[in-house]
This record gives sequence, structure tokens and C-alpha cells, in this order.
Amino acid sequence: MTVNFSNVGVIGAGAMGRGIAQIAAQAGSQVLLLDSFEGAAARGREALLAQWQKLHEKGKLDAAERDALGARVQAVDSVQALAGCDLVIEAIVEDLEVKRQLFRELEAAVSASATLATNTSSLSVTAIATVLKQPGRMAGFHFFNPVPLMKVVEVVAGFKTEPEVCTRLAGYAAQMGHSAVQANDTPGFIVNHAGRGYGTEALRIASEGVADFATIDRILKDQAGFRLGPFELLDLTGLDVSHPVMESIYRQYYEEPRYRPSPIAAQRVAAGALGRKTGAGFYRYPEGNQESVP
Ligand code: NAI
Repeated sequence: MTVNFSNVGVIGAGAMGRGIAQIAAQAGSQVLLLDSFEGAAARGREALLAQWQKLHEKGKLDAAERDALGARVQAVDSVQALAGCDLVIEAIVEDLEVKRQLFRELEAAVSASATLATNTSSLSVTAIATVLKQPGRMAGFHFFNPVPLMKVVEVVAGFKTEPEVCTRLAGYAAQMGHSAVQANDTPGFIVNHAGRGYGTEALRIASEGVADFATIDRILKDQAGFRLGPFELLDLTGLDVSHPVMESIYRQYYEEPRYRPSPIAAQRVAAGALGRKTGAGFYRYPEGNQESVP
């Protein structure tokens, strides 16, 4: 099988970029990983090697496959190093101006035929693409955390995205073992539009003192079949990522009350209690265990 994109650049070596780099390499692409924070791309690559080593130890990957995957991922330190990529997927901080600036530089570095994609959760693909000379080549390619396990990806058509770009990305998603859903460029696309409601309502229930976080999570898992409760999910994602997404969707819907972000979340952001990554959020995580906060 020929892979749809043989040279893939991934910008941002955080939670999402690493996961995307992993499944891109597993699809058979050569992957270049870039991050503006010094050493982050190299650390991202090391984490992938450790991941594949673990799979090897579990008997899920033979030694030759493990080595081949490792050889397919390289860390690079400039946008110019992505010049030969036929697809670049951006997974950096959720900030419109920072993303726009990156896409400006990126378009100047890559060839005219390269496809560009953003993993944004909530920003307008159309608004990011306005800085491009060829906005038709850009689409949203929105994965979920953790990327290798969450097998769905939204392919988002901006106002000027060429249909062919979405078709190719959807085909590539299938090669990555993921299933693509097509979404139009609206705030939150499909998943964050439908799913956010549960998060914001859960925050409201907690702030009104109706029930504590753990009870709300338990009910939604036991009775509604959720794999993670809303507060567990917020802790997994990190409020530094989630809260700005909630603010962005609220603003884009002209302050529609259904999407109003919660002061409880804002307070935790201010306190640096972001979730698993800081050891505490709605729950505490001493040595990786989950304990409910009273
Ligand atoms: P993260 O904070 O784990 O990683 C972001 C990485 O981007 C960091 O390593 C940072 O150093 C790097 N970065 C920041 N500005 C950069 C720049 N100008 N050039 C190169 N690298 C830069 O964030 P995460 O969670 O991986 O999210 C990344 C994107 O994916 C955001 O747009 C977010 O909204 C989206 N997203 C996040 C999901 C999640 O559950 N965490 C789910 C789906 C989408």
C-alpha cells in the first residue's frame, strides 16, 4: 500500500504532536518532529522510542519493526527543515495569532503542492488559513487524546479548503488506523460542540453544590456509559488546554450561555492546578494514583 503522504512534518511535540507522530510513522511515513521549546522534539522522539520498546516487550512489535519505526522519526529544529514534507500537521499552543505566524513561515518553507493541517480544537480553520497564499491547501485534522487509542479524527473543511485535500486526509487517517469524520468549520466542530456541553454542565452542577466531582463522574460513567467522567477528562486534557478552548467556543458563539466557561476551572488555571500534568486538578495524583478532592 502506498501511503498518502510519505514525508510528514509534525509541529508541536506535546501530548498531541507525539501521538500524531507515532501513528504517522506506524502508517509508513517518514516523520519530522519540530518544537520551538529547546530539546522538546528530541524528548518527544525518545518517548516514541520508549513506547515502541514497550510494545516490543509485550510481544506486539518485533525487533525489526521497532527499529524501522524508530528510524522513521527524526527531531528537527527549524521550520525550514520541513521543506521536503508533503504534509505538515500543526499541534502547537491553541492561540490564533501564534498559529497564524507559524503558518506564514511554514508556507514560505514548503513546496506549493504540500498539504497543511491544523490540529486545533476550537479555532477557526478558515481564520488560520487567511494568512496563506494558497488557503485551499489547508484543513483541520483534529485528533483526540490519547491519539493512538482514540480512533476517530475530524477532517475539517475551512471556507476555502479544496475538497481533494479533505479526501486525501481522510484516506491518510484510514492508513493510520483511524476513522475520519468530515466536519464543517464551526466553533468546536462536531466533538467539542457536542461534548463540551457535558463538561460545562458538570462544572455548573459542581459550582451549584449539587454534587461533588467524583459523584458526577461516577454517574456519567455508570449510568451514561462514559469511559471517563467530565472531571477526569478535564484532568487528562489539562485545564491549560481545555479552559481556553471553552473560552474560545463561548466567544465564537457570541456568548451563548450554554457554552459559558466556569469560574471553577478559571480558578484552577490561575492556581496552576491543571490536572494530571501538575499532579493536581479536580483530583490529586500522588504517584500516578487518582484520589478525589473533597
Ligand atoms: P501541549 O502543550 O502538550 O504541546 C504543545 C507543544 O507545542 C509544546 O511542546 C510547545 O513547546 C510547542 N509549541 C508552542 N508554540 C510553538 C511554536 N510556535 N512552534 C513550535 N512549537 C510550539 O499541547 P497539546 O495538548 O499537545 O495541544 C496542542 C494542540 O492540539 C492545541 O491546538 C490543542 O487545542 C489541540 N488539541 C489538544 C487536545 C488535548 O486533549 N490535549 C485534543 C485535541 C486537540
